[in-house]
Amino acid sequence: MTSQLHETALAIVADHKGILAADESTGTMTKRLDSIGVESTEENRRFFRQLLFTAPGMEESIGGVILYDETIRQSGDDGTPLAEVLSAKGVIPGIKVDTGAHDLALHPGEKVTEGLDGLRTRLEEYRSLGARFAKWRAVITIGDGIPSVACIRANAHALARYAALCQEAGLVPIVEPEVLMDADNTIERCHDVTARTLHWTFSELHATGVDLEGTLLKPNMVIAGKGCAEQASAEKIAELTIHCFLRHVPAAVPGIVFLSGGQSEVQATENLNAINQVGGPWALSFSYGRALQASALAAWGGDPANAEAAQAAFVHRARMNAKAAAGEWSAELEQPVAA
Ligand code: 13P
Repeated sequence: MTSQLHETALAIVADHKGILAADESTGTMTKRLDSIGVESTEENRRFFRQLLFTAPGMEESIGGVILYDETIRQSGDDGTPLAEVLSAKGVIPGIKVDTGAHDLALHPGEKVTEGLDGLRTRLEEYRSLGARFAKWRAVITIGDGIPSVACIRANAHALARYAALCQEAGLVPIVEPEVLMDADNTIERCHDVTARTLHWTFSELHATGVDLEGTLLKPNMVIAGKGCAEQASAEKIAELTIHCFLRHVPAAVPGIVFLSGGQSEVQATENLNAINQVGGPWALSFSYGRALQASALAAWGGDPANAEAAQAAFVHRARMNAKAAAGEWSAELEQPVAA
């Protein structure tokens, strides 16, 4: 079991591949579809995700896809379950298993992620539906006097309990402690908060006995908040990200797959590329949601006649990010996608 977890974790990030995070909850997916004027029906959600999963050549850059509960139960047009559509292409299916971030009692403005109750049974079912890895996202908010130690520790503890249950069920846990980039904080503040968050996360993983070699970390980059007047260069983001991670993430972790967190598509690629130019002992790759789907969503616009253009936009972004995961991306590679 152990070596199988190691193999799965390594396979997801092999050859500079990364992850497509297509695990938006129905609420979040509805916001995405609203933004392009498309009604959020079950069929529209299925159609768009099928379009991404069947995009020709996506498997060259995408090693794993994170699904949502609804999606892992859906099938392609020919009746093949979507998880099987992926595994037939050599893309490993994963599943989001947390049930969302809820208000942390006695800590206004802070969240704790829930979903541990009944998780053992749900993981068994997801494995039978084809999932080989899982995701749990903790949310750390920067603000006046926050994050508190209570928030960081409660989330780290839940991540460790989730990760242990995943490994028991034969699934690779993606451990995602996300420090949000929505505030107006400096990059130095993000460095400090990310350092404390990673410290407690790995302390809890260690105490719980989680096998780090069968685990992937999905963190934020060290980056200034969106509202900060001073935005750092990609080189500075890379330098501070690696500085922070070298001190807090054990080298036994096979891969670090960053979230995009609200960066634009090209910004997320450029920053990942800069991070790889500095480098570290882990595979440094991507697990992007918005930064892999934004132009595909816009190209589709809800019209099946645009499916190929949307697939081309998605495959382009996936390729650009795989180049960045190798540290070989440059702005000249960003040619317009043929429609
Ligand atoms: P973004 O890349 O859009 O931040 O989404 C990644 C993700 O899965 C967040 O949990």
